[in-house]
Amino acid sequence: MTVSAVIGTQWGDEGKGKVVDMMAGQAQVIVRFQGGNNAGHTVIAEGEKFELHLIPSGILYPEKKTVMGGGMVVDPWSLLEEIDELRQKNISFDNFFLSDCAHLVLPYHLILDQLEEEMRASQKLGTTSRGIGPAYVDKAARRGLRMGDLLHRERLAARLQAALSYHNNILEKAFGREPYSYQELFNSLWEAGQRLAPYIGSTTLLLDRWRQEGLNILFEGAQGTLLDIDHGTYPYVTSSNTVAGAAGPGAGLGPGRIDRVIGVTKAYQTRVGEGPFPTEDPGPEGDKLRKDGGEYGVTTGRPRRCGWLDLPLLRHACRVNGVDWLALTKIDVLRGHPQIRVATGYQVGEDKLEEMPTDTDLLQKIEPVYEMLPGWEEDLINCRTFEDLPANAQQYVQFIEEQLGLPIQLIGVGPQRQQIITRGDWQ
Ligand code: IMP
Repeated sequence: MTVSAVIGTQWGDEGKGKVVDMMAGQAQVIVRFQGGNNAGHTVIAEGEKFELHLIPSGILYPEKKTVMGGGMVVDPWSLLEEIDELRQKNISFDNFFLSDCAHLVLPYHLILDQLEEEMRASQKLGTTSRGIGPAYVDKAARRGLRMGDLLHRERLAARLQAALSYHNNILEKAFGREPYSYQELFNSLWEAGQRLAPYIGSTTLLLDRWRQEGLNILFEGAQGTLLDIDHGTYPYVTSSNTVAGAAGPGAGLGPGRIDRVIGVTKAYQTRVGEGPFPTEDPGPEGDKLRKDGGEYGVTTGRPRRCGWLDLPLLRHACRVNGVDWLALTKIDVLRGHPQIRVATGYQVGEDKLEEMPTDTDLLQKIEPVYEMLPGWEEDLINCRTFEDLPANAQQYVQFIEEQLGLPIQLIGVGPQRQQIITRGDWQ
């Protein structure tokens, strides 16, 4: 029995979907523990493309148990849409479980997300507009509604009335907006709840039982470490803890139960939304990365900001997650650059830093110090072993390993399931 966590080490969009899909082959239970439909995973399985926002990618394996944990915030209508789309592609929901403790993202959260962004004016965060921040605010303020409330008509009515009287007040008085009609929202929510009811229950009990039965459990992180509310580039972060340690509270397993943490990093760096990005390349080479890597958001379609791998940020991410080994994705995208830059440190005035400063304002000002590595022209898409990679691509992988003191055990060379190189004891 092994409990593993697959975690993004950058600003999300590291290609975790593909790594999770690969690791899911070894697990019987796949669990998401934080975030909501701000996430977007693209998985290509048997030639078919699946875009998942809320449901863990384990759903693509009919025999595996797929869990949405209590640390998530879930828009019930978006979830139903995702379920319907997957059902149309003959995906089974017989082994799908939804925590009764997961919080609901409701329409007023979406409006508030948008209004709060407008109020930030020049200090926008560039959120995904999915209501994630306001839903976590309600959770912490103890006025949130949870999945379990959908199972009890009277309780749902009372909780919704209380939440709406608060939010309608804010919407009307602070923002001059129309209030929500209680009855309309209640009816729609009750109807959604009726459809979700078969999946809702206490998933912590189930997880513990499966763990004791010896099943392999895989935690699927969403977003990335640099978007973690405590360990990311605050305030340009999401509203949840995205690090591996959050899998405990987010799913209801004790901290000592996680056996290994797998960090996923892209071979270069991208970011959507605002905030510091020391190695961003706004020039033609950055454009080439965007074009070759198809760097457009799965959730919002926004073009991603692109740049070079940043080792101080990656070192920080490996540390705060306790990463045991790394998966390096999309190395094939680096083809055709005469030289590949990797930031090994930062220059701040006279000083050289090797570690990421936790002061976000300082991170905005620093200059990366680059090591230039030789590029390659070959297409890597058909490489299946490390030795198949051209010498310069091998050197690139080894350079990262040496700098971080961690092994890279999976190397993604293309979008398809089989386009991945495995090394060492990755299973
Ligand atoms: P929120 O999570 O929608 O509140 O957005 C906060 C920040 O996190 C914004 O910069 C978003 O672009 C970013 N973000 C949230 N989810 C993801 C993701 O899954 N991938 C990449 N960026 C994300």
